[in-house]
This record gives sequence, structure tokens and C-alpha cells, in this order.
Amino acid sequence: MLTLGIDTSCDDTSAAVVLDGRKILSNIVSSQSYIHEKYGGIVPELASRRHIEMIVPVVDEALIAASVTLKDIDFISVCYGPGLIGSLLVGCNFAKAVGLASGKPVVPVNHLEGHIFSIFLEYEDIDFPFLALLVSGGHTCLYIINGFGQYTELGRTRDDATGEAYDKVAKILGLGYPGGPIIDRLSKEGDPKAFDFPRAYIPDSFDFSFSGLKTSIKLKTMELLTKEFDNLDPETAKLSEIDSQLTRDICSSFQSSVVAVLVRKTEWAVVKKGIRKIVLSGGVAANSELRSAMKHMAEERGLELYLPSIRLCTDNAAMIAAAGYHHFIAGNIASLDLNPRAYLPL
Ligand code: KG4
Ligand code: ZN
Repeated sequence: MLTLGIDTSCDDTSAAVVLDGRKILSNIVSSQSYIHEKYGGIVPELASRRHIEMIVPVVDEALIAASVTLKDIDFISVCYGPGLIGSLLVGCNFAKAVGLASGKPVVPVNHLEGHIFSIFLEYEDIDFPFLALLVSGGHTCLYIINGFGQYTELGRTRDDATGEAYDKVAKILGLGYPGGPIIDRLSKEGDPKAFDFPRAYIPDSFDFSFSGLKTSIKLKTMELLTKEFDNLDPETAKLSEIDSQLTRDICSSFQSSVVAVLVRKTEWAVVKKGIRKIVLSGGVAANSELRSAMKHMAEERGLELYLPSIRLCTDNAAMIAAAGYHHFIAGNIASLDLNPRAYLPL
């Protein structure tokens, strides 16, 4: 079974060709970061317009890279939410139009399901149940995955998603967008103990909270700019342009707070639920410190940890094809009134 996967949920236009939901023949991602960088975050209107320009060339490239044509494709898997509604509309309408014109079935896929099932693109057999920590720009959730379509949510963020916190902290410090990879890189040259930023271990809950941490970094940065550096205007001055070592120290201290909370909550879920397999997914799963801290915890406790490779952590269409395969087998085919949804729980 050959699937053409499509994801336009946020700011990446992506198309992939995947065999039997497992083997990637191509996975093309066209990033829009350079468009949104100067705004310090995604501008939804610009994102949808760029998807319109890129969707045809990206799908063409995916077919060519896989050495197939549309005729060889058995069905199309498309992400229909959650995400930015204007962006989702581009992918969904494209998929429906191509499906109608070519007679290929269209399978609707939840983006979060795609992130979690991306693990099966690299690991053949992971027995259910497993714990899945999904950490991305829009979501931070901990689930028990009992099988395909059988998901129990243990906890979620009560405010900012992890990736969102990374991006906002990068903006506060005057670093670029997306903030995650930049903070990850700068943290390596900083002191994780330089600042004692808060760690929100919400008691008796698997929920997360990152907005207090973000606010505390904003206040610390403002304090440094006004007190240490000649009363600079905290609204316009960028700490990263004034003191690179202090910036690295803030990044490193921020990251160690984030990672500590994510690892501790996951560890607590292992203890409470007795599930000894963990799958990490989503853009923040690309974070080097989160990966190594989670590995360390898993080794100490003798757990099985499954980490997708970096390119499969961030948004891509191969993951949509991987999850779509199971929907296709289950006969879940979209009709022409498939309407994307900005809010779509798993
Ligand atoms: O999964 P994703 O590509 O898109 C969403 O579904 O949101 O995740 C994007 C998020 C961004 O917030 C980005 O800053 C973050 O993932 N990210 C990282 C790293 N690489 C990407 N965060 C921390 N460390 C990284 N290395
Ligand atoms: Zn995503």
C-alpha cells in the first residue's frame, strides 16, 4: 500500500510517500521559518499563503523523490487538525481535490496521532501499551497508548506548550525563531545552575505548567537590562546582543527546569501506571538534553525508551502517512465535506 501523506498544519509544507505505513520512500519538508523569523513567531495569514504557493511543488518533489507517480498511490492521508485553520484548509482542500480528480480515497489524520505513530517508521515492533510524551509547539501531553485509536490522556499543559515556552523565551532574549533549536545549542555553553528558575511539579497530577517559568525569565531579563546594563529599555533592548554569556546561562537554566519537569513527570507515570515503555515525540523531542536525560532515567530504571530520529520529531508528512495507514485499514475514509479543525483532541 502506497500512501501520499500531506501535512500543512502549521508553518511547514510537507508531503511524503510511505509504503505500508512504515517505510519512508520520500519525506519532503519545506520550512517557512525564514518568513516568520522576524516576527518571533508564526503569522497565520502568511503561513497559509505560503502553503498555497508550496503545496504543488512539495507534493511533486515527494513523488519524484520516491520514484512514483500519482497513479501508483493507493490513498492520500491528510492532516485535518489540530493546527492553524488557514494552513490546514490548504492541505485538506488540496487532498480532496487530488482525491476527487484521481479517484484515490482520502484518509483524515489527527496531527497528534501522527507525531506519536511516527515511532513506527523507525521501530518495527513496539508492544502496547506504552507511555507517550508528546512535546511540540502547540501541545504538551502525556498519554497511555493502548493500541491504535485507544488513547488515555494522563495529563497536559495547563498553559504554554513546551515548544511555545522555548519560542517565547527566545523572543524575550532576542534570539531567532524557532527558539527551541537555538536555545538547545546555546544551553551547551551555559551554566544550568546560574539561575534558580521555577519547576512546576503540580502535585497529584500529570499536568504541566510552563507559563510561570517563562514569566520568571522575562522578569529576570528585565531586571538585568535595567539594573546591570545602564538602565536599558527592556522593551527594545536584546540581552543576547548585550551579554552572550548571560544569555547562554539563562538558556541553560531554563532548559534544565523544563527537562527536569518533563522527565520527572514521565518517571512518575512509569511508577504509578506500571508501564515500562516510553515513546517521545513532537518537535521538542529533538532537544538534546531532554533526550539524554530521558535516556539516563530509562537506563537507571531499566525501561525501554523509543526516540524518533530528529527529522521525524518536528512536523513532517511521513508521520501522517504512518498513522493514516491504520485508518485506511479500519475503513476510515473522508467524504468531500471533510472540514479541518483548529482544535481536535486525540
Ligand atoms: O512538532 P513541531 O514541529 O510542530 C508542532 O506541532 O508544534 O514542534 C515545533 C516546536 C517549536 O516550538 C520548536 O521551537 C520546538 O518544537 N523545537 C525544539 C527543538 N527543535 C524544535 N525545542 C527544543 N529543542 C529543540 N532542539
Ligand atoms: Zn507537530
